[in-house]
Amino acid sequence: MSIKTIAVIGSGAAALALASALPPSYQVTVITKKGIKNSNSRHAQGGIAAAYAKDDSIASHMEDTLYAGCGHNDQNIVSDVLLDGKTIIENFLENDFPFDRDKQGKVSLGREGAHTRNRIFHAGGDATGSMLIDYLLKQINSQIEVIENETAVDLLMKNGRCAGVVTKDSRGRINLRHADEVVLAAGGCGSLFQHHTNDPSVTGDGLSLAYRAGAELTDLEFTQFHPTLLVKNGVSCGLVSEAVRGEGGFITDQNGRRIMAGRHPLEDLAPRDVVSRVIHEEIAKGKRVYIDCSAISDFEVRFPTITSICEKAGVDIRKRKIPVAPGMHFLMGGVSVNRWGETTVPGLYAIGETACTGLHGANRLASNSLLEALVFGKRAAEHIMRKPVDNRYSQFNGETSGVYEVPNIELSELQNRMTSDMSIVREKDRLIEMSNWLYGLPSQKINVKDITIPQLELSHLWQVAKLMTSSALLREESRGAHFRIDIPQADAGWQGKQIVHTKKGTKMRKNEGIWRNESFTAEKIAESLFS
Ligand code: SIN
Repeated sequence: MSIKTIAVIGSGAAALALASALPPSYQVTVITKKGIKNSNSRHAQGGIAAAYAKDDSIASHMEDTLYAGCGHNDQNIVSDVLLDGKTIIENFLENDFPFDRDKQGKVSLGREGAHTRNRIFHAGGDATGSMLIDYLLKQINSQIEVIENETAVDLLMKNGRCAGVVTKDSRGRINLRHADEVVLAAGGCGSLFQHHTNDPSVTGDGLSLAYRAGAELTDLEFTQFHPTLLVKNGVSCGLVSEAVRGEGGFITDQNGRRIMAGRHPLEDLAPRDVVSRVIHEEIAKGKRVYIDCSAISDFEVRFPTITSICEKAGVDIRKRKIPVAPGMHFLMGGVSVNRWGETTVPGLYAIGETACTGLHGANRLASNSLLEALVFGKRAAEHIMRKPVDNRYSQFNGETSGVYEVPNIELSELQNRMTSDMSIVREKDRLIEMSNWLYGLPSQKINVKDITIPQLELSHLWQVAKLMTSSALLREESRGAHFRIDIPQADAGWQGKQIVHTKKGTKMRKNEGIWRNESFTAEKIAESLFS
């Protein structure tokens, strides 16, 4: 009997949701650069958003998602991901997933930025991602092979189809791992910036591998900076969840002035892009910024992970004042996929942060990403199961001769320049300068057989930086997380337009699925959903 082989690159929530949804008749290999628990999902403090409360509805969750996304979300994807996501969460509840509960045993639903209802499910206080990964690991069947400390260095291609993955193990040996389907679930590219919340192993690999294979990448200009990383003496020490503000924390300058007052109707719970810009502005003026947590009496119980981050950083949490600054958190753009997670390259899927599904638009609503990871992991698995089992590509005896261009710079130089010119506030002339620098960097060609992992990571990040900067330069408006100080307004002419990169070049596309401002009301969305 023919067995279908699936190679999954990455081990976060999307990867494990996919692996756990495939029956034992599939030969699934999860390949991860470091340990199975190295992923962005693992670090997620804030939880999973779903319209579960009595006063909540899919229409309201949708309204908040579209509002945060600033007119750049794919409306159909938003509605069906939120619906499917809710079903998954109900299933988790039936299976006794340990969501936090109040003294009466009712699920405690928290609030985060730009949500108008309490709809965030947490676990372990602020350890939702970690508990989710443990839960999914228990669900995957024992036949799934997990390969740790092995890096995907290239994709195997045959006749325009993805036929497997080339990997390098910790001893530097190259392996050709043939597969009928390859799934990229390698996270985003937080390491491109000085301060970020990502696992250090997340270095744009999925994006760069897909690009090399000829896949389409889109929306790369939309990079979400989380407003509140604990940053002390210029060093970022970890995330301070938005849930802290949901429980009554607020942002101040060193004199105790509430800096979000008067800046947005939702003040400290404004969408992330707004809060990050205000904090960025204060820091640029030489101010120091803090989260005041004095209203949260049981902070250490509610937020054990943040308490431990504070302890490690030498911040006395009893003073209820945590120094913060924004840092790169999540990439809204990524490898373009359809509703099943299929990329534009046959045999290649992308899920989780690696993918651009259209859910997040120009600015992701808090706690929608674990939801997306679960939905698309499951969907990609369902799609794979519907394909005939033919084992065509397992017999492919390809050789790899992949070559990478590695720039002659240190990663820190790339991070410094991306942070100063491509982060929260962008400006045309500086983007041009940045682009000239990136495209003009001297480099050397290194074969995958000889390349070291740091060289490979630098090459991936450089590639992503070039595409991201081109997108930021081309998008002549401000929308969501893409803020151009030279053009600080959204432009209706850009509504629904996407910048798309492939190896063959860059183009602009009008996406008819993208939500239009004028037709938007919660009632209309409810009608379109349930009619
Ligand atoms: C947070 O806890 O603030 C992060 C949640 C998220 O990124 O969705």
